[in-house]
Amino acid sequence: MVADTPSRKTLSIKPGGSRDADPDRQRTGSRAHRIARATVRTRDEGDEQRAGERRPYPPREGNDERRRGPRPEGEGRPFERRPHAPRENRERYADSRGIDERPPRAPRGEAAERPYAGRGPRTSSAETYPVFAPCPQGLEQALADELTALGFENVSAGRAGCRFTANWTGMMRANLQSRLATRILVQVAQGPVSTEDDILALAHATPWERWFGAEQTLRVDTSAVRSPMHSLQYCNLRAKDGICDRLRDREGARPSIDTVRPDARVHLFLDETTATLYLDTSGESLFKRGWRYDKGEAPLRENLAAGLLALSGWHGDTALIDPFCGSGTILIEAAYIALRVPPGVSRPFAFERLRDHDDYLWRSLKDEARTAILPRLEIPLLGSDLDPRAIDAAQQNAERARLTPDAISFEIRDARDIRPPEGAPGWIVTNPPYGERLSADETGLWADWSQTLKAHFDGWHVDVITTDRDLPRHLRLNAQRRTPLYNGALECRLFDFEIVGGSYRQKL
Ligand SMILES: C[S@@+](CC[C@H](N)C(=O)[O-])C[C@H]1O[C@@H](n2cnc3c(N)ncnc32)[C@H](O)[C@@H]1O
Repeated sequence: MVADTPSRKTLSIKPGGSRDADPDRQRTGSRAHRIARATVRTRDEGDEQRAGERRPYPPREGNDERRRGPRPEGEGRPFERRPHAPRENRERYADSRGIDERPPRAPRGEAAERPYAGRGPRTSSAETYPVFAPCPQGLEQALADELTALGFENVSAGRAGCRFTANWTGMMRANLQSRLATRILVQVAQGPVSTEDDILALAHATPWERWFGAEQTLRVDTSAVRSPMHSLQYCNLRAKDGICDRLRDREGARPSIDTVRPDARVHLFLDETTATLYLDTSGESLFKRGWRYDKGEAPLRENLAAGLLALSGWHGDTALIDPFCGSGTILIEAAYIALRVPPGVSRPFAFERLRDHDDYLWRSLKDEARTAILPRLEIPLLGSDLDPRAIDAAQQNAERARLTPDAISFEIRDARDIRPPEGAPGWIVTNPPYGERLSADETGLWADWSQTLKAHFDGWHVDVITTDRDLPRHLRLNAQRRTPLYNGALECRLFDFEIVGGSYRQKL
């Protein structure tokens, strides 16, 4: 599996070192190809055969745009298909508290008249793939629960990610709907490897022409856990060579390498004995939802923020406060959860640039997901921070996330001075300053904050992510749960407290 952990070894291929520059180069891989025929398990042996019969690959209609370089900003996005409305116009749409969304545009032109069922992609809907979805370490079970709730099958939590099975439409849905996954990697080949030449053979035996060709640019990344291979860089090169040789053999041309904005991304994962090749269908990491404007000070990744909310037990139907809100990540994710906004609805994905992308189907999936968005927020979402620049960044981020100005209430306030809104007790989910850079303990912050919680937040749940394992002692609260988690490379704990009337309940 591809581990999304700080410890894994990862690299991506650099264009400078590529031997693709020499198209006439002769490869000496006959032994490797023999091994491949004997041992490689690709997705579909029959397809291999058919792929050979239909070479060279027929030119496809309507795909020229893929060769024209970067897309204009905002292309292929849903809310964003219209330019961001200027502030004065936005108010017109902000007639209910929630998402600032005009009705989705209906499919137009040829695609609108053509039922997608009849326009089968090369990846048929009956074909299912093993999929690996990496996630921040510590969120595996929460991700498994999410994928199961989304209706995926054969879901199992592993190390730093989950496995499941999906057809091509399911892959699109996972990209669109998963709040916790970092990527959606479709497994296209797996086989035993003992030398770098075996990697070449595995890559060469995989029917890449189903998904991309020389008209697309390519990037290959390699990661490994306990692999005996000497050089991951060489393994990466062998995988890339196998892919490019295959496409040259079948279609007469090799894709160029682009490490910055590739059309097709392939991940090679190596363990002690096996190589697995994945097609990365996400492109940019899924935590990049497309709304972050200001990075703020130590912002959480969006999928980790969503994971904290999932682990805290908050379900979007009670009040939520983040008193150290920084750039607003937790609250913006919370608003999306409460309003049922699909997290991927405002960003492009790598699968949109693959061969035979069914844009009509993709638009239909997004339109269907949009119909589930609730018109208004019924619960208070409150964010505060001592730093006025953080509040400014949070407000800008919320606006870019197309939330109406009243969806989240942000204010400049010391966490020691917060008060609960009227109504039933809710949740505080927060990411206070920690580490040397954000040292806070010296200020007596925790003792004071604890007094505030005990005095005013009877019955509230408080969930705090921190690197400081002594936080419960500083707060003089006993944690009901402490969940190990990684925030990037930082090993953290999510402490879960329950505040009980002016004091706290000793539960441990
Ligand atoms: C780790 S950052 C939070 C990052 C946030 N989760 C995000 O995604 O952007 C901690 C925040 O706590 C704020 N802070 C520090 N001391 C504070 C205090 N006494 N009261 C309120 N906010 C405080 C800092 O200004 C900083 O924005």
